[in-house]
Amino acid sequence: MRVLSVVGARPQFVKLAPIHHALIAAGHEHIIVHTGQHYDRDMSDVFFEDLEIPHPDENLAVGSSSHGKQTGAMLEMLEVSFLRHKPDWVLVYGDTNSTLAAAVAAVKIHQPLAHLEAGLRSFNRQMPEEHNRVLTDHASDLLLAPTSVAFDHLQHEGLGHRTIVVGDVMTDVCLATRDKCKTQAPEMPHGWSTEDDYVIATIHRQENTDDPIRLRQIIDYLATSKSKVRLLAHPRLKSKAAEANINLLKGNIQIFEPLAYPQLVHAVCHSVGVVTDSGGLQKEAFLLDKPCITVRTETEWVETVNSGWNTLDPNCSQSIDEILGREYPAHSLQPYGDGHAADAAVRALSSWKSTHG
Ligand code: UD1
Repeated sequence: MRVLSVVGARPQFVKLAPIHHALIAAGHEHIIVHTGQHYDRDMSDVFFEDLEIPHPDENLAVGSSSHGKQTGAMLEMLEVSFLRHKPDWVLVYGDTNSTLAAAVAAVKIHQPLAHLEAGLRSFNRQMPEEHNRVLTDHASDLLLAPTSVAFDHLQHEGLGHRTIVVGDVMTDVCLATRDKCKTQAPEMPHGWSTEDDYVIATIHRQENTDDPIRLRQIIDYLATSKSKVRLLAHPRLKSKAAEANINLLKGNIQIFEPLAYPQLVHAVCHSVGVVTDSGGLQKEAFLLDKPCITVRTETEWVETVNSGWNTLDPNCSQSIDEILGREYPAHSLQPYGDGHAADAAVRALSSWKSTHG
């Protein structure tokens, strides 16, 4: 079986790693196409190196621009790429503009399309990611869902017959990296000390960064923490803060560049907790037994909230020190699978192909 993966943004490189290793271990051919949506070394290359993913077979170097321009440029180039490689499956990941572009390119030329991390919903139509995931799910031939909640969403939308629950591949890589970090701690950036009590923070979503009033509210909130707040600054955050003349170095906030994946896992494991608007980081905090505050009105990863470990605080009104300082009950369930989702995803691709192909 020949699978062509399309990736482009940071969280997709994390999901790609276990899928690549599972495909190769099962004797399949894997072609990797990088759209170039993320292009900074610390947003892209370091993930390929640390997670032992080979260089992409193609890099479309699309770069940053408006949603339409960025998605349109990818769409045009991906069509050419799919026609050249003629894979058995185009595999797309998550909810970025790269995901949507690849889904539209594939379905238009009748190229079998599978969506990994299908069925997540925020039900917030202001989020670009929500349009991307809904449209991609409806275009796909096979939906690889991470959880039973995701399956229920797909069934409700009439897509249950195309869905297989495989578990969450980010759990595979998160747990494996945690175990590796225990025996070999990664080298941390200059100025990072492990002894301090610190909170890990990331803010990058368009709805939080692009409105200066909202962004100022979030930075003021982070500055209320008594513990140090290590803010891992995404390029979008830095550029929008600079445009709005917002000083990120307020209160106990310290600024660091985005971390490599093993560094991030290590940093969360030694933190008091996380404040974020990232989907992936909410779940990583949960998997690493750290409490999280999510500065959004909703989450796609509802299991983290239902378990009590993730607190939604869109109004930035609850005390960071109090929420992250609480005692939390041990997790009794594994809603995201046992760390072998990538093998299940590869088996699903292979068996679907032989019964429907
Ligand atoms: C994208 C995804 C989001 C995902 C996030 C992870 C979409 C709609 N959004 O958001 O779902 O959670 O990636 O990071 O696809 N930039 C750089 N260097 C880079 C990449 C981006 O400087 O390597 C800057 C660009 O100037 C751009 C801004 O960051 O203006 C935002 O990048 P973009 O790809 O538009 O979306 P993200 O905010 O990263």
